[in-house]
Amino acid sequence: MISAAASPIHLHGSRVLIGAGLLDEGGVELRATLHHRRLAIISDSNVAPLYAARLAATCGTPSPTILTIPAGEASKTREQWSRLTDELLDLHFGRDSAILALGGGVVGDLAGFVAATYLRGIPVVQLPTTLLAMIDASIGGKTGVDTRAGKNLVGAFHHPVLVLVDPTLLGTLPVEQLRNGLAEAVKHAVIASAPDFVWLATNTDSIIRSGGPGAALADHLVRRNVQIKADIVARDERETGVRKILNFGHTIGHAIETLSGFAMLHGESVAVGMVVEARIAARVGIGDPGLPEMLIEVLRQAGLPTVVPAAMSSDAILEATRSDKKAREGLVEYALPAKLGVMAGADRGFGIPVSDAMVCAALDNSR
Ligand SMILES: NC(=O)c1ccc[n+]([C@@H]2O[C@H](COP(=O)([O-])OP(=O)(O)OC[C@H]3O[C@@H](n4cnc5c(N)ncnc54)[C@H](O)[C@@H]3O)[C@@H](O)[C@H]2O)c1
Ligand SMILES: [Zn+2]
Repeated sequence: MISAAASPIHLHGSRVLIGAGLLDEGGVELRATLHHRRLAIISDSNVAPLYAARLAATCGTPSPTILTIPAGEASKTREQWSRLTDELLDLHFGRDSAILALGGGVVGDLAGFVAATYLRGIPVVQLPTTLLAMIDASIGGKTGVDTRAGKNLVGAFHHPVLVLVDPTLLGTLPVEQLRNGLAEAVKHAVIASAPDFVWLATNTDSIIRSGGPGAALADHLVRRNVQIKADIVARDERETGVRKILNFGHTIGHAIETLSGFAMLHGESVAVGMVVEARIAARVGIGDPGLPEMLIEVLRQAGLPTVVPAAMSSDAILEATRSDKKAREGLVEYALPAKLGVMAGADRGFGIPVSDAMVCAALDNSR
């Protein structure tokens, strides 16, 4: 039974459908959206053996071509983009074809970029398989690859025509990847919804467990988070204003992730980043002083880190925030929470310049 087919979430002309069973029963939706397009499934070496044949089966005949990349961030490159586009060209995929991106954020970003550029653009359907991809990466139309100068520096906006989210696929996701995605759910709750924060705090243990959350919990978790992200993206597609609030925790988080040499997961880095940035907000006098402790409690319960790694000096972190692509000249701008569910600085585009001294004090306070 597809529980949610009747209530899609709409975003930029595409529909996001969430429901248990969509991997096996999504064929009807795919045909209704893509008609008779020739299909290529792009997936990775972990996800393809688990789910690609099931997706292919619901697509019917002719059976889609399955293209697989090695699992992991190291595959989000122009080299893999070249290989995939060359393979599609060799197989004579034309403008009447479409890409089905089956995997986590790595597959979603890379396959989305293939679709954005192949023959100047063909449709892509996102079928996210990690919590992070279900609630974040598959929503919002950002696609791209990493470069030696930094992550995500070459890419394009290319909204999927359809997003099919089957939360039961979380059942095979390793616990550390559930944690990784939960950090973004905590972020969504802080920036947009106090009740969702309370819900998360109550249900963390049931979400972060081997075998994934139960069906009802997974459905609620994914649906609420997709709704929050889609609402924000719908209000601001090109990151000129409100979309900036999605960067909460990410200015410090990216710096920590980079300095760790990507040994820390994105969600782990963002968890620490949220604690530090909530402290910055309190220090500059715009944020609830109780928020850092509330965050620490829920993040700890999820098994996510809440202190700055001892090996990283505050100066090194500050320096790394300056090279983040979101930094403007002079002071680095932050997206800071006023209190649970409300971000500060609505009157000035949500970007709040903060002095190095304030950032350093908040970092030192988070060790
Ligand atoms: N486009 C955006 O707006 C956006 C937003 C956030 C993150 N991202 C990008 O997303 C990427 C990270 O995505 P991710 O965290 O999903 O990582 P990922 O795609 O590398 O997946 C994590 C791991 O889980 C495995 N996996 C995926 N689904 C599985 C399943 N159901 N069962 C078992 N194993 C499974 C993968 O093979 C991989 O080993 C980064 O490159 C990041 O830049 C993009
Ligand atoms: Zn993130």
